[in-house]
Amino acid sequence: MKLTSPQTLLSLSTLTSATLITTAGNITLPSTNTSVLGNLYNHWISLPNSTFDLTRSLVYPTTTPISIPMFGSRKTAIIEPTRSALVIIDMQNFFLHPLLSPRATGGRTAVQPTLNMIDGFRKKRMPVLWTNWGLDEYDFLTIPPSFLDGFSSDDDPLKTFGSEMGLVNGTDAGRLLMRGQWNSQPYGPLYDAQVEGVKNGTDFYFNKNRLSGLWGAQTPLGLYLQESQITTLFFGGVNADQCVWGTFLDAYYKGYDVVYVDDISATTSPEYATQMVKYNADLDGFVSNSALILTALE
Ligand SMILES: *[C@@H]1O[C@H](CO)[C@@H](O)[C@H](O)[C@H]1NC(C)=O
Ligand SMILES: *[C@@H]1O[C@H](CO)[C@@H](O)[C@H](O)[C@H]1NC(C)=O
Ligand SMILES: *[C@@H]1O[C@H](CO)[C@@H](O)[C@H](O)[C@H]1NC(C)=O
Ligand SMILES: *[C@@H]1O[C@H](CO)[C@@H](O)[C@H](O)[C@H]1NC(C)=O
Ligand SMILES: *[C@@H]1O[C@H](CO)[C@@H](O)[C@H](O)[C@H]1NC(C)=O
Repeated sequence: MKLTSPQTLLSLSTLTSATLITTAGNITLPSTNTSVLGNLYNHWISLPNSTFDLTRSLVYPTTTPISIPMFGSRKTAIIEPTRSALVIIDMQNFFLHPLLSPRATGGRTAVQPTLNMIDGFRKKRMPVLWTNWGLDEYDFLTIPPSFLDGFSSDDDPLKTFGSEMGLVNGTDAGRLLMRGQWNSQPYGPLYDAQVEGVKNGTDFYFNKNRLSGLWGAQTPLGLYLQESQITTLFFGGVNADQCVWGTFLDAYYKGYDVVYVDDISATTSPEYATQMVKYNADLDGFVSNSALILTALE
C-alpha cells in the first residue's frame, strides 16, 4: 500500500504495512498490531503490551532508544535520548533552605535522588534543564497582583517579590526570587551541580516568572526545547502541585511527552495535592521514579 499524504496517518488505526512518500523521504510504517497516534511530526506508536514508542522514529533519526518502566497505567515508554531532557523546577534556597522553608522536609529529601538523576542524564548526554524563579525589573510590568499577594509574607503586602530579605544565618539573602540572588540559587549541593553542569555544557539554566516555565506564547525554556527538537520531558522539583505541575501541564498542552518522577518531586501542600498531581500526571503522560529510570539508563 502506498499513501501520499501524511494526514492519512490520522485515519489509520491498526496498520498492516504501508509506505508514505513525503518530503521527509519514504517512510515505512510499522507492520504488526501497532497504532500511530498523532500526526507524522508528533506521533507515538502504541505497541500491544501498553508500551508507547515516543521516539518519532517515522520522521526523525534515532540513536539508541531506551525503554523506561513506568508505574502508572502506561507501562513502558521507549524514548530517544537525544530528544529527552530532565526539567528541575525551583529547587531553590527560597523553597528548600531550612531557615527559609522549615516545612520543606520532602523537598530536602528529594535532593539526593535529584543529584542521582542529574548524573544519569549527563552520562547519557541528555540535557539537564534548571528552571527557576528569576525575576528582573521588567517582570514587574506584567506580574499580576494575585502573585504579589500570594508570595507576600508576614501579612505585609510589600514583603513580596523583589523585597530585600535581609540576612539569613549571616548570608545576605538578597531580593525575593530576583535573579542572581542567594535566595534564588539552587539549594545546597544542587547549586554546585548547576554551576558545574552549565559550565560543562551538559546543563542549561532558564529563568521563569510564573509558576509555569512554559506559560504564554513562549518562554526561555520553551524556545530551547523547540530549537533543540526535544519531545520528551522528565519532571522533578518543588512544589509538585504548583510550579512542577504548572510547567508539566503546559508542556502537556503544548504537545511534549510528560513524565512525572515521583521521588524527585515534593511539596509542602497537604497530601491531597500530591494525590491530585499523581492522578492527573498518569492521565496526561507517565509516572515513574528515579530508581526505575536510572536502572533503565545504565
Ligand atoms: C520513494 O519511493 C518512490 C516511489 O516508489 C521512488 O521513486 C523513490 O525513489 C523513493 N525515494 C527514496 C529516497 O527511496
Ligand atoms: C495481532 O492482533 C491479533 C488480533 O488481536 C492477534 O491474533 C495476533 O496474535 C497479534 N499479533 C501479534 C504479533 O501480537
Ligand atoms: C512490549 O512489546 C514490544 C514490542 O514487541 C517489546 O519490544 C517490549 O519489550 C515489550 N515490553 C514489555 C514490558 O513486555
Ligand atoms: C548557619 O551557618 C553555620 C556556619 O556557616 C553553619 O554551620 C550552619 O549549618 C548554618 N545553619 C543552617 C541552618 O544552615
Ligand atoms: C566537568 O568537566 C570536568 C573536566 O572534564 C570533569 O572533571 C567534571 O566531572 C565535569 N563535571 C560535570 C558535572 O559533568
